[in-house]
Amino acid sequence: MQIIIEKDYEAMSRRTADVIVDTIINNPSATLCLAAGDTPRLAYSLAAKRINSEQIDVTSCKFVSLDEWIGISDNNDGSCGYFLRTVLFDPLRITNQQVHVFDGLANNLLAECGAMDEFIFNNGGIDLIVVGIGRNGHVGFNEPGVSFDHYSHVVELDATTKTVGQKYFRETTALNQGITLGLKHLLESRQAVLIANGTAKAEVIHLSLDEEISTAMPASIIQNHQNALVIVDEEAASLLKTRRS
Ligand code: GLP
Repeated sequence: MQIIIEKDYEAMSRRTADVIVDTIINNPSATLCLAAGDTPRLAYSLAAKRINSEQIDVTSCKFVSLDEWIGISDNNDGSCGYFLRTVLFDPLRITNQQVHVFDGLANNLLAECGAMDEFIFNNGGIDLIVVGIGRNGHVGFNEPGVSFDHYSHVVELDATTKTVGQKYFRETTALNQGITLGLKHLLESRQAVLIANGTAKAEVIHLSLDEEISTAMPASIIQNHQNALVIVDEEAASLLKTRRS
């Protein structure tokens, strides 16, 4: 695991954007899994800008979402699907055939999980997964206590996630369950990048990277990844003891 500490959010975003773009340059048919959330917003915008200005070919890439709120349509601007579409897929003119995102309104959620796993396996597995970290240490919707042995699955959301998740929505929204890639997908990806910024993430970054791997802190599993990169800003790194690289 390599840890890169950047000065601020912009520098963290620029570094993350470069990893995304370099992955595509090195493997034009890469399969990428990208988290939604506030953390990666600037990184994706910068990546899209670079890809467009340097005319990098993304027509053979595949993109999958990391997670989605169950019961929320991707027309809702608080959904993960809406975020990825507007921040990345539309600016890059990515076609529907290149994308597989969870449908939060699916009637058969098990089938929805199976379809996501199948898309990933049929496209050779995930080359790059970019994840954020929740204030409770979750990754995607892999909440504290989760097994590390799941592919896509449906979860009951933690109280913290239900509360913090309101920030994505214009009005108070009932958030009870999520559908998410499991941590087995993260472990099997060829490269995993965990990003975090701000003092609100300092404690979970410390607990995830300095302490033993534990299901109580799902993000800690990144320590076990063979090719993991953690990109944080100085605020998120402020309690970090491990400065491994
Ligand atoms: C959210 C999502 C995660 C995201 C994390 C951090 O609830 N389920 O995929 O990475 O929490 O979000 P943010 O980047 O907005 O802090």
